Amino acid sequence: MLFDSEKEIRNILYLLDLKGVVKEDLDDSIDHGRLVAEICKMLAGKMGLDEETTETIYNAACVHDVGKLKLSQMLYGRDKKSLHVEEVRHMRMHAKLGAEMLGLCNYPGDIVDAVYHHHECYDGSGYPDNLRGEDIPFTSRFIKICDAFAALISDRPYRKGFDKETAISMMIEDNKEYDIKLFLGFMNLANDPEFDTIIQMAEEINKRHSYK
Ligand SMILES: [Fe+2]
Ligand SMILES: [Fe+2]
Repeated sequence: MLFDSEKEIRNILYLLDLKGVVKEDLDDSIDHGRLVAEICKMLAGKMGLDEETTETIYNAACVHDVGKLKLSQMLYGRDKKSLHVEEVRHMRMHAKLGAEMLGLCNYPGDIVDAVYHHHECYDGSGYPDNLRGEDIPFTSRFIKICDAFAALISDRPYRKGFDKETAISMMIEDNKEYDIKLFLGFMNLANDPEFDTIIQMAEEINKRHSYK
């Protein structure tokens, strides 16, 4: 069964009795999870992944940044233009924190693993474990690409979202971070007319969150 990102995230906060999460951060996390999950599902279809793997990836994508909500107040002050060094270091904990939260809520191991490693880079420059190449779970390599694109086209408190072409050219520059086979699949998908629904979804989210 495919997750609903809002239902899962709210349930995790409830189960862990996590209070004081800033509303905007919760909304961001839900919308971002949903956007990444939809990109993942479309790419999975395009690349012919089996149903089980697609489901694991989709569900992990829904909750992949839930760890950020633990860091919510510290990281997301709307008055901040950018993150300070200390905060960036702190923010890197979100992958591990998120996996811990999911583990405590008894999520399946493959989802926990996918979330734990979703910021590993193919060239070994990622975190938390600096894994490299196929040592990184397939699910995490997959989410990594869809997550990067979603983040680039989304408005942030400190910058507007980039358009699709700019986002893709930025990803091409960073191509060492990605599993090249999956990345080529993604580039293919991005040129497909069906991908417009993703861009529309991102635009709607940006409108809803309009940062001033
Ligand atoms: Fe993340
Ligand atoms: Fe993300």
